[in-house]
Amino acid sequence: MRITMIGSGYVGLVSGACFSDFGHDVVCVDKDASKIEALEAGRMPIYEPGLEQLVATNVAAGRLTFTTDLKSAVAGADAVFIAVGTPSRRGDGHADLTYVFDATREIAEAVTGPAVVVTKSTVPVGTGDKVEAILREVRPEVDVQVVSNPEFLREGAAIGDFKRPDRIVIGTDNERARGVMRAIYRPLYLNESPILFTGRRTSELIKYAANAFLATKITFINEIADLCEAVGANVQDVSRGIGLDNRIGKKFLHAGPGYGGSCFPKDTLALLKTGEDYEAPLRIVEAVVQVNDSRKRAMGRKVIRALAGDTNAAAREETRGKTVAVLGLTFKPNTDDMRDAPSIAIIQTLQDAGITVRAHDPEGMEAARRVMPGIDYRTDAYDAAAGADAVVIVTEWDTYRALDLKRLKAAMSGDVMVDLRNVYPPADAEAAGFRYSSIGRVAPKG
Ligand code: UDX
Repeated sequence: MRITMIGSGYVGLVSGACFSDFGHDVVCVDKDASKIEALEAGRMPIYEPGLEQLVATNVAAGRLTFTTDLKSAVAGADAVFIAVGTPSRRGDGHADLTYVFDATREIAEAVTGPAVVVTKSTVPVGTGDKVEAILREVRPEVDVQVVSNPEFLREGAAIGDFKRPDRIVIGTDNERARGVMRAIYRPLYLNESPILFTGRRTSELIKYAANAFLATKITFINEIADLCEAVGANVQDVSRGIGLDNRIGKKFLHAGPGYGGSCFPKDTLALLKTGEDYEAPLRIVEAVVQVNDSRKRAMGRKVIRALAGDTNAAAREETRGKTVAVLGLTFKPNTDDMRDAPSIAIIQTLQDAGITVRAHDPEGMEAARRVMPGIDYRTDAYDAAAGADAVVIVTEWDTYRALDLKRLKAAMSGDVMVDLRNVYPPADAEAAGFRYSSIGRVAPKG
């Protein structure tokens, strides 16, 4: 199969590289010439474990190429995937489809024969219809089928997720298009990944419903964690206790500082807008969005409370001028992505309270510097903690999972640790001399 991938961002690049690894001929297209140049030179525009090697292998095998020339890449392709960004539109939260429609118009002008155009970008219900209308208008004489094929990969685990998906969803009622998609994914479903054929609108909705449901699971357990703190229960045990029920499932029940990233925040908002547009309001998702938004700042206040050692206003005022070391800035480990990272709201809350923030992140500091220039970035966790009054674990990078807690404590001038990812057993942190607090766990007494 000859596959063209329009957009060499996260999804486009990973999908393109994986398709080429299945043996297909893949051309990845991007408007950004510097990105294409870098890719041709073997440099990845994003940090994703295993990607550089996968790209190198398939480029060397002649199956994977990069170009800025959309026209020549589209001509003669069996399938053209649209994997451009669909950010939140400023002001109203709708998905901004400008890039999708621009790409569609360019594809329309470039197709040479019967083609299958596949939306891989996360697009609201009905977008496939609009893409099809553009293609028909520009090229009424060409048989072009539009398919929805959402991608469920997670950043940091993208290649594994792509190659071993829980399911492949293909949205089209057209038999020729289904045949092309079957041929493209053959290596996967031979590997026993279920392939689900649905209508196009259903497929588009599956993606949003999946992300909204996962965001709901996380937000649910986060609120239960708050209740655990109030009543003296342990949220990790609650997660285990409910997650072992197969109807609930144990994944996405880790309490933390709130979800972030490039998908959940924007997709939940876009789904709410779709609900509004069709007068079918999604009240649960609405609550999830609100609870998650307020949680991020609440985490900043939690740190201030821990630092004050007391909840009264006078004690909180005394935290002005103190120094907090933040460990982990990206929205989750194994990525350099800072989009909607809880660290941003947490740090803002600390700074608003007159606290000095310094930080470390294994991969995210370059991106973080662009969003938060006024922070003192340090070379490692110990360097960040040196002389600090408190240390806060915001992202559970492996490198923070096995810190020498005694050494960390000795480097600090204070003794407060706030572990927003429940990385450490409370007893271990306390044994190292910390006044330790975490999420939904009250340290056993005595
Ligand atoms: C997500 C979906 O998992 C993926 O299927 C979709 O295609 C894109 O969006 P991603 O954004 O890469 O992937 O990250 P994910 O691993 O799902 O985590 C999202 C956020 O939820 C992170 O901020 C993470 O820290 C948080 N999270 C996740 C929790 O707080 N608790 C959990 O139990 C799981």
